[in-house]
Amino acid sequence: MKPGMSLMRHYLQFKDFRAEEYAYLFERVATIKRRFKNYEKYQPLVDRTLAMIFEKASTRTRVSFEAGMYQMGGSVVHLTTGDSQLGRAEPLEDSARVISRMVDLVMIRTFEQTKIERFAAHSRVPVINGLTNEYHPCQILADIYTYIEQRGTSARGVIDPDCLKGKVVAWVGDGNNMANTWLQAAEILGFTVHVSTPSGYEVDAKVAGINNRDCYKVFKDPMEACRGADLVTTDVWTSMGYEAENETRRKAFADWCVDAEMMALARPDALFMHCLPAHRGEEVSADVIDGPQSVVWDEAENRMHVQKALMEYLLLGRIG
Ligand code: CP
Ligand code: NVA
Repeated sequence: MKPGMSLMRHYLQFKDFRAEEYAYLFERVATIKRRFKNYEKYQPLVDRTLAMIFEKASTRTRVSFEAGMYQMGGSVVHLTTGDSQLGRAEPLEDSARVISRMVDLVMIRTFEQTKIERFAAHSRVPVINGLTNEYHPCQILADIYTYIEQRGTSARGVIDPDCLKGKVVAWVGDGNNMANTWLQAAEILGFTVHVSTPSGYEVDAKVAGINNRDCYKVFKDPMEACRGADLVTTDVWTSMGYEAENETRRKAFADWCVDAEMMALARPDALFMHCLPAHRGEEVSADVIDGPQSVVWDEAENRMHVQKALMEYLLLGRIG
C-alpha cells in the first residue's frame, strides 16, 4: 500500500463504500476508459500482483480482471478450487494467510458470503468480491457506470455521477445476488428499485443488508414493476450453485421474461441491462436483449473499466 494511506479496505459488498467514494470512482472510470480508448499507456500497478480465486465458472469477471490488471502494468495469478489446495480442504484462513503474503490484491468468486468474509479477515491485502451467492458488487458498479455513461454524460464528456438519484430501476426475476446488490446501491445512491419476483423467490431485506426499506417496492406483476422505469434489468432464473432447482425454477419464472410488452411500459428512453450470461427466451426475449434499448455489451465491457478504477483505489487511494 502507498505510504501514508490509512486503513486497508476490502470490497466485499456494495455498501462497503460511501456515496462520495462512488462519485470519485465513477470520475476515475471515465478517465481510465478514455485513456484506454485513446491507446494511452497507464500503468500505475507495475510490480503489483492480483490473485484471482474462482470457485465458480466465469467469462467476464476473469477476462475483465485479468486484462485490466495487465493493462495497468501488473500481473495476475489464476486459481480455481480444482487446481489449488482449496479443493483439498486446506482451511480458507490458511489459504488467505499464505496467498496474501505473496500478492497485493485478491479477487474471489465463491459460494457463501461468509467464505469471502473469513478470507478477508485473514488477508494482509485488500479482497474484492467477484460474486458470491448473496452479492455481485463489481457488476452493479459496472451497471451504474453504464447508466451514467448513457444518460448522465454531456456532449463534452462531463459525467454526472448522481444521475440515477430519484430514478426507478425495475428488477424482474430472481431475488438473487444481483437483486440484493441493486438494493444496496439504491440505499446508498438514492434511487428506487421496483422488484418483481415469483413467490418463493422474493428479496429479503436482511440478506440484502439494507436498513431503509423505502429504497425498494415489491410488485406481484412484473409488468407493473416496469411501468415508468428508467432502467429494466433481469438475470438468469437459476444462478450458479442452484442448478438442482432448474426445472422447478423454469416453471415458477415462466411469466418473468422481459419482453417487448414489458419494455413498452417503461419510460420511452428506458435502458435494458443484463449482467450476462443470458438465456434468450427465458428471462429475456431476443428482441429486447438484441434491441435498441439494450446496453448489455457496453455493460459487459465496463466491468473492466470500473474494476481498473477499483483496483487503483484499493491499492493507491485517491489519485491527485
Ligand atoms: N456477469 C458476470 O459476472 O459474468 P461471468 O460469470 O462471465 O464472470
Ligand atoms: N446471478 C448469477 C449471476 C451470474 C453473473 C449467478 O450467480 O450465477
